[in-house]
Amino acid sequence: MSTEAEIKELEPWFHNIHLPDGNQTADNHFLGDFPAFKWKNIKDSIPQDLTGWKVLDIGCNAGFYSIELAKRGAEVTGIDLDEHYLKQARWTAKQFGLEDKITFKQMQVYDFAHSEEQFDLVWFMGVFYHLRYPMLAMDILSQKTTKMMVFQTLSLPGKEEMEIPEDVEFHKREIMKEDGWPKMAFIENKLAGDPTNWWAPNHQGILSMLESCGFKVTGMPEDETYIAEKDKDLKSSLETWNFSEYLSAVGKDWKKEVDKKTKK
Ligand SMILES: C[S@@+](CC[C@H](N)C(=O)[O-])C[C@H]1O[C@@H](n2cnc3c(N)ncnc32)[C@H](O)[C@@H]1O
Repeated sequence: MSTEAEIKELEPWFHNIHLPDGNQTADNHFLGDFPAFKWKNIKDSIPQDLTGWKVLDIGCNAGFYSIELAKRGAEVTGIDLDEHYLKQARWTAKQFGLEDKITFKQMQVYDFAHSEEQFDLVWFMGVFYHLRYPMLAMDILSQKTTKMMVFQTLSLPGKEEMEIPEDVEFHKREIMKEDGWPKMAFIENKLAGDPTNWWAPNHQGILSMLESCGFKVTGMPEDETYIAEKDKDLKSSLETWNFSEYLSAVGKDWKKEVDKKTKK
């Protein structure tokens, strides 16, 4: 079968991938040359040589980012819940001869709460706002990340930032209505016709969530896209008072774990 016929058989595509033989998987994409136009801006913000790096690509879709990162020498795990996209991703990786560098698995982001694996780089683009439990996913993935996260989400318009106070007095909650206060809009019905869009955080909300998970944002190379580096001085609440809530949320025996921790 010709490459064109194979592309057709694997339709519909969300990633337009430029294959080594010159074919493209979705050359009439509604967003243009997606996601190549995003990658063009992000690519210089991560190391050119990823040899020895373990990378996790969450919601890998047809594997555009998994492939680019594997080309730089990384060992990549790409996960997606949709087997249709994983089939595309496996086929695409083969076209690049990168099938030995990338493992594609059908998984939910939350499944990583039950895995011991760690990753130098977690690629978390285009998934956060599709999650019903986004902060749980952030808490899970922050524990899997040793160096860096590349984070992207659909967001609220605006780029306001603010110094977040240590405490807010009970009767002074007006401050939370300020543009720069960290916020997340809940989408009860649909956004852009899509019922899987649940949340849209604002810019400061993204900075604050990342910080609360132990990341320092070091760059924003592309719209709505954040380079976040693990900062050992920032303590996630998971390491302090919120430990048992997290364990309970991921179905672990939190009483046993808390006993173990406090006996140390
Ligand atoms: C908007 S696409 C983003 C694809 C790619 N990450 C990107 O930035 O171009 C969202 C992808 O995440 C997958 N996805 C959505 N919810 C997920 C979940 N809970 N766990 C794993 N993958 C998920 C979808 O199947 C889809 O392939």
